Amino acid sequence: MEKLMHAVRYHSYGGGPSALQHDQIPIPTPNKDEVLIKVEATSINPFDWKVQKGMLRPFLPRKFPHIPGVDVTGEVIEVGSGVQKFKPGDKVVSLVSSPNCGGLAEFAVIKESVTASRPPEISASEGAALPVAGLTAHQALTEYAGIKLDGSGEHKNVLITAASGGVGQYAVQLAKLANTHVTATCGTRNMKLVRSLGADEVIDYKTPDGAALKSPSGKKYDAVIHCAMGIPWSTFEPNLSTNGKVVDITPSPSALMTFALKKLTFSKKQLVPLILIPKVGSLEYLVDLVKNGKLKTVIDSKYPLNKAEDAWAKSIGGHATGKIIVEP
Ligand SMILES: NC(=O)c1ccc[n+]([C@@H]2O[C@H](COP(=O)([O-])OP(=O)(O)OC[C@H]3O[C@@H](n4cnc5c(N)ncnc54)[C@H](OP(=O)(O)O)[C@@H]3O)[C@@H](O)[C@H]2O)c1
Repeated sequence: MEKLMHAVRYHSYGGGPSALQHDQIPIPTPNKDEVLIKVEATSINPFDWKVQKGMLRPFLPRKFPHIPGVDVTGEVIEVGSGVQKFKPGDKVVSLVSSPNCGGLAEFAVIKESVTASRPPEISASEGAALPVAGLTAHQALTEYAGIKLDGSGEHKNVLITAASGGVGQYAVQLAKLANTHVTATCGTRNMKLVRSLGADEVIDYKTPDGAALKSPSGKKYDAVIHCAMGIPWSTFEPNLSTNGKVVDITPSPSALMTFALKKLTFSKKQLVPLILIPKVGSLEYLVDLVKNGKLKTVIDSKYPLNKAEDAWAKSIGGHATGKIIVEP
């Protein structure tokens, strides 16, 4: 008889947390280049519920019903015939990319090519927090803002918006590894936390100076890792240095217009939209930082799989401090 697993799925676009259904479905089988894992933890990203809302329609989800959840940690149960790096019993961190799988389930299939080993020093929750948020922060700083994380590049002033969020918390810490001067925005309740992550200056986004993104010491920003939403170019522009660049990880239609305009006019100040392209080398690098105590994960809350809708609602609320974890 086919073995079944508990999976959380939605069967159409929309509906929010109440459209998540708890189903018993067959455990998936790995293809040649894939690994079947018993999921130990997953984390919710805004991406997950944006896909449910239909924001990437008609590309994602590829079909219904869909099991959401990209970030996973787990124990390898079975490997495809072409898999070389992993064997049953190994602990791993990965991003789910197969069409019918997702982290909100007892088992998931992942590609070997985006999977890193999870050393025992990193908990399943810490590992599951890392892929999407950590890789986005890493890609924004290194590939888009040109910051060398070993500190060998020129000194830069960096602004990180929504530094208390999943991406922002990692961006602050990675930017400090690079020896940059970090100004960060967050709400009043998280200012102490964001300072403890290494930010040199923290501004409350609900104050007039915070809303204007003004550095308390009057610094102009060489790079902005923009993890919040709804801030127009006119607010960034006066705060940028001559060649300042805004890396926008949630670009609105008007931000995309600004991007095109700045490109076409050869503007020195730029806005660039970011799309995450996961790289296993970067994931391994981040895992190593966590293992060596150089990168911490702030966990907002943890939920069991049978309360996945509460985790979903928490993420939609937009006020998580750090990452939201779900454990089967
Ligand atoms: N392009 C890509 O490939 C990519 C990859 C990853 C993420 N993203 C996007 O990036 C965004 C951030 O993701 P995330 O996981 O970091 O989100 P998140 O964890 O849900 O962010 C929540 C945090 O943002 C803070 N915040 C909200 N508005 C703010 C503002 N105006 N100024 C300062 N802080 C503010 C909140 O603080 P309070 O509670 O105090 O309000 C809360 O702590 C999302 O829109 C996500 O979809 C894009």
